[in-house]
Amino acid sequence: MSDDLSSLKAETEAALAAAPDLRAWDTVRVGVLGRNGALTGLLKQLGAVPAEQRRERGAALNRLKDELAAAIEARRLALEAAELDARLASERLDITLPPRPAAPAGPAQGSIHPISRAMEEMAAIFGAMGFAIAEGPDIETDWHNFSALNIPAHHPARAEHDTFYLPPATAADQPPRVLRTHTSPVQIRTMLERPPPLRVIVPGRTYRADHDATHSPMFHQCEGLALDRDITLAHLKGCLIDFLRAFFGIADLPVRFRASYFPFTEPSMEVDIGWNRKTGEVGHGGHWLEILGSGMVHPRVLANCGLDPRAWQGFAFGMGVERVAMLKQGIPDLRPFFESDIRWLRHYGSSPLAPAMLHEGV
Ligand code: DAH
Repeated sequence: MSDDLSSLKAETEAALAAAPDLRAWDTVRVGVLGRNGALTGLLKQLGAVPAEQRRERGAALNRLKDELAAAIEARRLALEAAELDARLASERLDITLPPRPAAPAGPAQGSIHPISRAMEEMAAIFGAMGFAIAEGPDIETDWHNFSALNIPAHHPARAEHDTFYLPPATAADQPPRVLRTHTSPVQIRTMLERPPPLRVIVPGRTYRADHDATHSPMFHQCEGLALDRDITLAHLKGCLIDFLRAFFGIADLPVRFRASYFPFTEPSMEVDIGWNRKTGEVGHGGHWLEILGSGMVHPRVLANCGLDPRAWQGFAFGMGVERVAMLKQGIPDLRPFFESDIRWLRHYGSSPLAPAMLHEGV
């Protein structure tokens, strides 16, 4: 390479290395490769070079042009990377900073809905007892919601359910599908899907065509199912007493089991807790309040799920989530649960950061 080209190369490389930012870099680039740049000028003068040297000079200039273009591009990439690093460092968010307190001056803060909170607490208590969470669809087949649970067509229990029926999708879609009237069909789905032994709870939405001060067409239940070879009524009682005392945070909460009837359990029991009818307070006061249904899974339900009732047995229960949330938090009316009134939500909602309202060590 001739001397003038060598020094142009060295000067350009030095200028690139010294360019602190993309703006300085662009000045270097234009000074070399731009319309009036140094290298462009040398290329333009090629015509004046004596014919016998022109070929060699032309090749050298083109080689230098490629080398300088590559060096310029490399410097651009390095400067861009450095600028990005600097931006990332200067714009870092400190997410460990606690938020400013809520209103009046600070930003609005959300809260956990009492239903979500109650279901989280159920999951925490039953989770500690080895229950997993199971789910099923809100739109159910007649078979899962009724027949498999030993509620055949024309059974009187069907009339009590105020069922929402879906319009049949086709003429063959008979009997029509329903909005599940309880979480019990997830017992069926669970038994069909996984082999016993099993323990699940099913917190979820349920639907009945009923609307007044104490009923909402959409509400929530939490189902429970425990199956093994030797589960007895004593396990059912112990499990539910422990749950209720932990959930309400009352170590000596009175709990009473009363014989009842459900098509899918035999024997069946309703469970009452002690409360004060006048004040609505849970715990003491001499009155009983019915709070959930339960029983030993009916042999026919086990058989409907392909399980041998002589090999497997267990208990099931179901409770209304709104009901227990209202009792626990002293909420007098069911309707505001679904009205999204911000004042109600602020009052009864709980902080996402607050620990679950559980009574430890009950
Ligand atoms: N599915 C019943 C209802 O909605 C509640 C229930 C009662 C569930 C007894 C159960 C049970 O699993 O064993 O009224």
